Amino acid sequence: MTSDSRGAQLKPKILVTRAVFQEVIDYLSEYFDVDSNQSDEVFSDAELIRRLQGKAGVYANPTNLMSAEVIRSAPELRAICNMAVGYNNIDVAAATAAGIMVTNTPDVLNETTADFGWTLLMATARRVTESEHYLRAGLWKKWNYDSFMGVDVHGSTLGVIGMGRIGRAVARRSMGFNMKVIYNNRSRLAPELEAEANNARHVSREELLRSADHVVLVLPYSKESHHLIGAAELALMKPTATLINIARGGIVDDAALIDALSAGKIAAAGLDVFENEPAFNLGFLKLSNVVLTPHIGSASGSTRRAMADCAADNLIAALSGHRPPNLLNPESFK
Ligand code: GLV
Repeated sequence: MTSDSRGAQLKPKILVTRAVFQEVIDYLSEYFDVDSNQSDEVFSDAELIRRLQGKAGVYANPTNLMSAEVIRSAPELRAICNMAVGYNNIDVAAATAAGIMVTNTPDVLNETTADFGWTLLMATARRVTESEHYLRAGLWKKWNYDSFMGVDVHGSTLGVIGMGRIGRAVARRSMGFNMKVIYNNRSRLAPELEAEANNARHVSREELLRSADHVVLVLPYSKESHHLIGAAELALMKPTATLINIARGGIVDDAALIDALSAGKIAAAGLDVFENEPAFNLGFLKLSNVVLTPHIGSASGSTRRAMADCAADNLIAALSGHRPPNLLNPESFK
């Protein structure tokens, strides 16, 4: 804290870029002079830069692009705390160069996001939303032996790409379905972690795509993972396979996926994330073999609150001289 000319303590100024739980705003206000955006307007870059002037910290989320330009335009900024585990909205290298701490909210959302991966997997394999639309449209006149036949989940092979904490939580859940698990990850897991993840077996990406019945994407987005799943990869998958994306838009080439789904190259997809969301490719809406949700993987009440608290605790630590618990760029902590 600094003092004004009369010696009164001045709280550091922070910006909360989007609406968040009022209790969290109240908590932050105990430590900071908070410029909050509870009206939830989505700031343009110019507005974000304007609002960041004089701010020591920003409480952000993946809808805010904290680009190098935005970062360089905020000379007093010392901490960017994201309310998300993913942080591809932040140019971490630019933040580090400017001596700004960057944090995320790992762990608190692992189980909820894994639950949601399974929600999408089951709904996709068993055509839940497609058949519900049929029922709601008043088209259900009689039972048919072959109505909405899907693909089995139990006894099948689950392929997980990105075997971090959420990927392992997804894999663990497959034990009850008597599934085999194969995975692909930058590096092979320690044997005890593979054992916990339903004895997951490390394979090449190509082998995974060829042999899995259900492919779940749980890896971070980066330049390296951009369009990791495109036309060539989709062509390797079984025509009966499903693809589930609970990671980030941009890992899948959405136009190529729409082509593959239209041509029956894979059976179906369950997608919580999209390229250029929320302005996603409207080609998906023409398909019946997709389950589409608006980026809600971690959206249980208690988990969103835990993420919000975690981001607040990171910001409070960062601006009071303590190392934030979830610091992503330790070089910035002095
Ligand atoms: C949500 O997408 C997150 O990264 O936490």
